[in-house]
Amino acid sequence: MISDKIQEAFNKQLNAELYSSYLYLSMAAYFQSVNLLGLANWMRCQAQEEVLHAMKFYTFILERGGKVTLTEVDGPPVKWDSPLQAFEDAYAHEQKVTALINNLVDLAIQERDHAANAFLQWFVTEQVEEEASADGVVQQLKLAGDQGGGLFMIDRELGQRTFTYPAAGVMAAE
Ligand code: FEO
Repeated sequence: MISDKIQEAFNKQLNAELYSSYLYLSMAAYFQSVNLLGLANWMRCQAQEEVLHAMKFYTFILERGGKVTLTEVDGPPVKWDSPLQAFEDAYAHEQKVTALINNLVDLAIQERDHAANAFLQWFVTEQVEEEASADGVVQQLKLAGDQGGGLFMIDRELGQRTFTYPAAGVMAAE
């Protein structure tokens, strides 16, 4: 069983992960609308990864005998002034998510819920990667500046990203 506090906080995080997916899907649509199909591809992959994160919370709550409560997902912004601004927003968003995960770890420790704490460590590690990958693209876009050639190269590179939904892994909260 999980405590009411952990259940409520994990359901909130499930919603936050789905919001992340919405945000990145909205960014993907923005990139597509300005013909940056590689950047759009990267964001679509990211949106799928966020659904996977949400599913990890979903599965963990149920495995611990808790109740999943799905609530309304806020609508994300729909346009950005530039690719750089969108990726800066993505990076800032990931920093917020890291803070949310850290707060959950604090709560798990406070509640003496060792299983929740162990589960959250996957996310602690994942957030390092999430921040680094978004910031990496921010830095690339800054280097490219207003040069169309640089942006073209970045777009081509980000177009290589793929996402494969793990067949069984999605149901595991590891
Ligand atoms: Fe679910 Fe991008 O963190």
